[in-house]
Amino acid sequence: MTDRFSFDEFDEARSARPETTDFDRIVAKGLSRRGFLTGLVALGSAASVMGALKGSAAHAATSRFAFKPIPVATDGTVHVPEGYEWKPVARWGDALFSDAPAYDAAKGVPSQGADRVFGENTDGMELFNIGGHQVIAVNHEYVNPEINLPKEQEEKVKSEADVRLLQNLQGVTVMEVAETPEGWAIVQDSPFNRRITNLTPMRLAGPAAGHEWLRTPADPTGTEVLGTLNNCGAGRTPWGTYLTCEENFNGYFGATDLEAKLPEAFARYGIEAESVYGYEQFDPRFDLVKNVNEPNRFGYVVEINPADPQSKPVKRTALGRFKHENAACTLARDGRVVVYLGDDERGEFLYKFVSAGSYAPGAPTDALLDEGQLYVAKFAEDGTGQWLALTPEATGMSAAEICIHTRQAGSKLGATTMDRPEWVAVNPRAVEAYCALTNNKNRAVKPNAGGDETPVGGPNPRAENHYGQIVRWYPAEEDHAADSFRWDLFVMAGNPDVHKDAYAGSSNIHSGNMFNSPDGMMFDTTGMLWIQTDGEDSNEGDFLGQGNNQMLVGDPASGQIERFLTGPKGAEVTGMAFASDRRTVFVGIQHPGGDFPDMAGGLPRSTLIAIRRTDGATLA
Ligand code: FEO
Ligand code: CA
Ligand code: CA
Ligand code: CA
Repeated sequence: MTDRFSFDEFDEARSARPETTDFDRIVAKGLSRRGFLTGLVALGSAASVMGALKGSAAHAATSRFAFKPIPVATDGTVHVPEGYEWKPVARWGDALFSDAPAYDAAKGVPSQGADRVFGENTDGMELFNIGGHQVIAVNHEYVNPEINLPKEQEEKVKSEADVRLLQNLQGVTVMEVAETPEGWAIVQDSPFNRRITNLTPMRLAGPAAGHEWLRTPADPTGTEVLGTLNNCGAGRTPWGTYLTCEENFNGYFGATDLEAKLPEAFARYGIEAESVYGYEQFDPRFDLVKNVNEPNRFGYVVEINPADPQSKPVKRTALGRFKHENAACTLARDGRVVVYLGDDERGEFLYKFVSAGSYAPGAPTDALLDEGQLYVAKFAEDGTGQWLALTPEATGMSAAEICIHTRQAGSKLGATTMDRPEWVAVNPRAVEAYCALTNNKNRAVKPNAGGDETPVGGPNPRAENHYGQIVRWYPAEEDHAADSFRWDLFVMAGNPDVHKDAYAGSSNIHSGNMFNSPDGMMFDTTGMLWIQTDGEDSNEGDFLGQGNNQMLVGDPASGQIERFLTGPKGAEVTGMAFASDRRTVFVGIQHPGGDFPDMAGGLPRSTLIAIRRTDGATLA
């Protein structure tokens, strides 16, 4: 694993589908001819969905962009527009408590006390105003063995202590931050500070809790689990709790006997005898030979109460089990809780959960994410779509089975195979939601791991799509609980300097704002969409002129998109949260290359940064 690799890409490389077969080659050949035609068709249909945007952009009376867009960058640091400044707030290894071990510029974090420091590889985050305290919850998606373990170990764990080090540097940090004369900083020893790791006790709740597939020798009840894995995107509930989403959990499990026969259902989730980290060599809980049900206890959305450091996190199985990206919460017209959920894997699905009960401020909330209905999206070519209810009647599976083998349930209903659903964002100013479909080199090339075909069409209009697009839907009757919607594409990323067909992108993409692989997304209170990228930053070939990963802002009304930030080479820009006064936005820089952010020749450090206007005005 290198520091230039996002975990998504790493997981794909590790779990590459079987070598191309003769059949694949024939299909691919047919498609390369057909790809040209479908490209034209896609361009036609995309042109029509983008038509409205083009018109309104041309007539926009005033720009809603408060900043001067910046050019691409290929260097090793962060750039923001004129009149803005950025500073590091928390870096991998920074102390949350005064008794934490010191970070070593050459070796990183020592294993003793690794759960007392800010973890590695920041991802999704949310900020909570708790009695005037700014408390931020930040995910630590994965660790990079290359910089966490001694060089001579060649990225391999050699002891239980190595495993504990890696386990303690992942999960979630909850910490108080405060503005000082030198900028935002961690409030060391704040009573809100807490590390949640791969080892923290948590409760399993909802339809799958207690099911036999969740029972293990250590937990015969199937209701208590240690830790959360691969915490990717995030969300927040209307009642002020944090949602952290378990994505590529599969890579943590392995079998000490590589010939061990694994359950058939594991294949759909990429759970294999060979693990990424080698935990199973020293921690039997991760050994599929000894604990075959342990992986069934991961792949969920986990609810954390940031206001109470003693509270036990809860895995909400009703929201399904898959490679969860984020959890975008909103309310239906009648107050039921709606959570949009993407499954980030090539050809997997987009989901929605609707609670049975309604949210009322001050009323109990514990059942809201346990009781309700999970749906999967089916998009039609004509710009309409449906949410298909994953019920026992429709799937032939029990309620618990649907929550454990959610992907298989979606396949049974013929859900639309998507170009890797990453973050969903709900517009606070209009009844509409957006999902970043980051890219999918397998579109029209091969089926998903469940054998579902991935034809070109609908919101996935390009074969071998390496640029990505953002789909937007408008719920029927302006109600997020409705079971149908209309959809269009907000943007198709592309490169108009290199391509003249659909791969040039939609009409709101030009040489000055191009990017690839949209991933993180969040709305600000004014209804502007902030878009972060996790893509190819070679700045060559198809990606020439796109530079490093970046953050852009889009105007849903006009379709205009402008570049706000560029990240350091090798990094992904992911996760963001506004301070309560909206004069600061916190942004995550994950897996940077070089010596970011210290620029002193040390190890590259994943970092939470704060961005402000130099005149102190609000951002959004
Ligand atoms: Fe962790 Fe799909 O991003
Ligand atoms: Ca990542
Ligand atoms: Ca992501
Ligand atoms: Ca990604």
